[in-house]
Amino acid sequence: MKKPKSTLLFLFIALFLWLNTGITFSSGRPGRNFIDSLLQTMTIDEKIGQLIQIDFSAVGKEKAIEYILKYNVGSFLNVWTPEEIKLLQETALKQTRTGVPLIFGLDVIHGYRTIFPIPLAESCSWNPKLVEKSARIAAIEASAHGIHWTFAPMVDIARDARWGRIAEGAGEDTYLGCVMAEARVRGFQGNDLSNPTTIVACPKHYVAYGACEGGKDYNTVDISPATLYQVYLPPFAAAINAGALTVMSAFNEINGIPASANEYTLREILKKRWGFKGFVVSDYNAVAELVIHGFVPDKQNAALKAITAGVDMEMMGFSYLKNLKMLTESGKLPVAIVDSTVKRILYVKYELGLFKNPIYGSEKRRKNETLKSEFINHARTIARESIVLLKNKNKLLPLDESSFPVALIGPLAASKKDLLGSWSCAGKPEDVISILEALETRIGGKNILYAKGCEIERWSEKDLKKALRVARKAKTIILVLGETREMSGEGGSRAYIGLTESQLRLTKAITRLKKPVVVVLVNGRPLAIPWIAQNIPAIIESWQLGIQHGPAVVDVLFGDCNPSGKLTVSFPKATGQEPLYYNHKMTGRPPIKPGNRFESKYIDLQPGPLFPFGYGLSYSKFIYSELKIYPKVLRPTDTLLVTVKITNDSDIPGKEIVQLYIRDVSASLTRPVKELKDFKKVYIRPHEHKIVTFRLPVSTCGFYNSKMEWKVEPGKFKLWVGPSSAEGLTGEFEIK
Ligand code: NOJ
Repeated sequence: MKKPKSTLLFLFIALFLWLNTGITFSSGRPGRNFIDSLLQTMTIDEKIGQLIQIDFSAVGKEKAIEYILKYNVGSFLNVWTPEEIKLLQETALKQTRTGVPLIFGLDVIHGYRTIFPIPLAESCSWNPKLVEKSARIAAIEASAHGIHWTFAPMVDIARDARWGRIAEGAGEDTYLGCVMAEARVRGFQGNDLSNPTTIVACPKHYVAYGACEGGKDYNTVDISPATLYQVYLPPFAAAINAGALTVMSAFNEINGIPASANEYTLREILKKRWGFKGFVVSDYNAVAELVIHGFVPDKQNAALKAITAGVDMEMMGFSYLKNLKMLTESGKLPVAIVDSTVKRILYVKYELGLFKNPIYGSEKRRKNETLKSEFINHARTIARESIVLLKNKNKLLPLDESSFPVALIGPLAASKKDLLGSWSCAGKPEDVISILEALETRIGGKNILYAKGCEIERWSEKDLKKALRVARKAKTIILVLGETREMSGEGGSRAYIGLTESQLRLTKAITRLKKPVVVVLVNGRPLAIPWIAQNIPAIIESWQLGIQHGPAVVDVLFGDCNPSGKLTVSFPKATGQEPLYYNHKMTGRPPIKPGNRFESKYIDLQPGPLFPFGYGLSYSKFIYSELKIYPKVLRPTDTLLVTVKITNDSDIPGKEIVQLYIRDVSASLTRPVKELKDFKKVYIRPHEHKIVTFRLPVSTCGFYNSKMEWKVEPGKFKLWVGPSSAEGLTGEFEIK
């Protein structure tokens, strides 16, 4: 397309403005002046173009170029090659009148090429520094490949393990969710967004997507304001406080109003109360789906509702592209709304430095900054810390030479792709070291016998026979069981969250040999595994750990790494217990007396989880003692001081995650039975101890009352410091 003559003048003005701007927007007025002046020169079509994001993988190159030239679209997702990114960017810069740079987004969820553990697994490290580093590395690799923007972190609280997307977040707890949200935003964005090795974060899915009924993806959310405020909103607030400059609006409705047309959550809470300065992108097609929700009769009304509510950019769906102009012409949509929306997008582009440096990455950076050995080392470190040891009867683990030969059996023992987990971006199965490969490297091929045993969802007598033959020759059996990567993640909700039939049959047949068995679980969600928990002496929860999955598991199996991870999600005994979370309410009839029918429980299941939130074993033995709470009576402005002595009563050095919980015993709105308020991960040498100190400002002991105001109510509180949500030393304090 040829440039009109006015383009030269325009470019001159733009250049002048650009040269006269400050370094970044946050530094003050100059950026705002630049954007205001730029906006004044834009036509309505050019403005609307900025509000549109196109999926390159869905439309292809020719169409993509057409969208730029004809509709001035401002953003693409899923452009996978730097060459294509460059082509599109140059088209926008050189062949459109305004030359506003495009912003390229991608789902960089747990690594770009160097794939780290799935976020749920990483959260089990309770180590925000390591989590931040994963996000930092992901940003370096992604930006080297031309990406400006990641659709992460997923900060949805997930209390129902049937929901496949539980894999993508930090689990069921809001406090931990906030800590991890901040860490990930810091990692992606660094402390200077205009640095071309950082990318802009996008906390998602705003909001309450994790509260979908029945754990069914995309399902209805019917939620009390208190739960929305107390449980689901805080991780978004935390991410925004940490500097996140975009937010993704969710697919679900909230109490009848879809999240992608929800003026209350988007405009009132996010933009007005929290002062969010960046922009909101809808989830994929979520604006167009307002019609299917039954919220609006057609796409034109969908576009009107969404933009009015505060969705700034539409990801696919084409409702904005086809309708916004008409809506402004008819006066239904004030141009002022379009302007403020465009400004938010230009602001983020400006903060990213795209007006100065629109094309990220280079051949050299890609060569030097992809799958670097430092990145791979980090992948192993975080994978090791993400593993949770669930059971270790009679200290079966760690294994040593006396356990050789080892039989490695199971449908996931040699798998590579499943270890990547869902959303593995540019990760490749060939980058992954499987458990079989890592074991061969660690103990030598001759000490290992391998058989698949069965497929995840298919049974064969022949496979079983081979597995039994192999198992009979071995001294110890390692069974690798769980889920394929497709069984969790988006659209991966399951009605039964146990192991599949074939895997259970295999496990039962193997245990009949009466040999020591270790189960290694590979999965994207908590599993209901009561039989395994009862009958298998050692269980390692390894989740989906990315490219260094195999080595990390083998490190734990042989004690080269002492496991230190703790669960950030409760494991159920049966699927029917879901949603299951430790910080539930007390009810008037909590289950306390076995045999009493009239309590809040099921008649066919013992109450409580199989493995609770915060739980995880170590090869060390930690003893908690000397809990001290000071003062016992506090004023609202005070800070509570809590100390506890943790002794490592073993010969093995180890790390312990010390957790602090409280309960507000009586309040104007009932409070959870326990709430995590702080934690510390401490390293303790054999037979030594550490005094762990917590400082808890009384202001953090409040909650949102019936008017949704954060208040600390006077009264008695219980406190626990322990190794999980189900154990610990107990104390009390009072707020006057
Ligand atoms: C839909 C998913 O819900 C969202 O998490 C993702 O970022 C977008 N698709 C883009 O791939």
